[in-house]
Amino acid sequence: MIKMKQKTLILILALIATGINFLIAEPENSPYLGEKATSSEIVLRDISVFPNGEGLPYGSGNANQGELLYQAKCIACHGEGGLGHTADQLAGAKTILTDEYAEKTIGSYWPYATTLFDFIKRAMPMNAPGSLGDNEVYSLVAYLLYLNNIIKKDEQITSITLPEISMPNQNGFIDVHEMEKFHR
Ligand code: HEC
Repeated sequence: MIKMKQKTLILILALIATGINFLIAEPENSPYLGEKATSSEIVLRDISVFPNGEGLPYGSGNANQGELLYQAKCIACHGEGGLGHTADQLAGAKTILTDEYAEKTIGSYWPYATTLFDFIKRAMPMNAPGSLGDNEVYSLVAYLLYLNNIIKKDEQITSITLPEISMPNQNGFIDVHEMEKFHR
């Protein structure tokens, strides 16, 4: 007869063995929940542009170039002049954010111009994310800023000038970290 203590010991050893088995499990035995990202897939997504412009790649573009790209790659979902279609309205807000029918666009909502680059480069066009070159993204950002009356149509934007653009709603956000300090 094994004693109670020995039984517990056997149980613990069995549990440890199961754990180790999980750790060294071969991929062939995995439940196939996706596939390993290739290094080129990782490079396409491994970008982070911060509000102060840190992380912006070298490049430039203007709204004239951006307009052509928009017509070819964005208009189907975001509509003529960014007024919205099956996807979000991006420009031309007629109501403010406190309105019952607030129109949330780049001009009325976004606090930074820099993070537009990050979002478009990473996620748009929705049917082919990661397919746009850096200069193409700068041009599209310029066009969307132009549609929101933030820059002029022939203004060239670069990694240096994009962080200098002030957005209409840049003061419309509350810094929760500052608030936490205040309420402590
Ligand atoms: C197939 C449809 C489709 C196409 C094409 C497309 N988008 Fe989008 N876009 C979407 C959808 C859907 C969303 C909302 C995604 C979300 O909220 O996560 C979105 C969101 C956005 C936003 C954020 C809007 C906001 O204020 O939250 C921007 C900016 C944007 N798209 C730009 C573009 C640009 C530039 C192109 C062309 C290069 C483009 N999109 C092409 C479907 C599309």
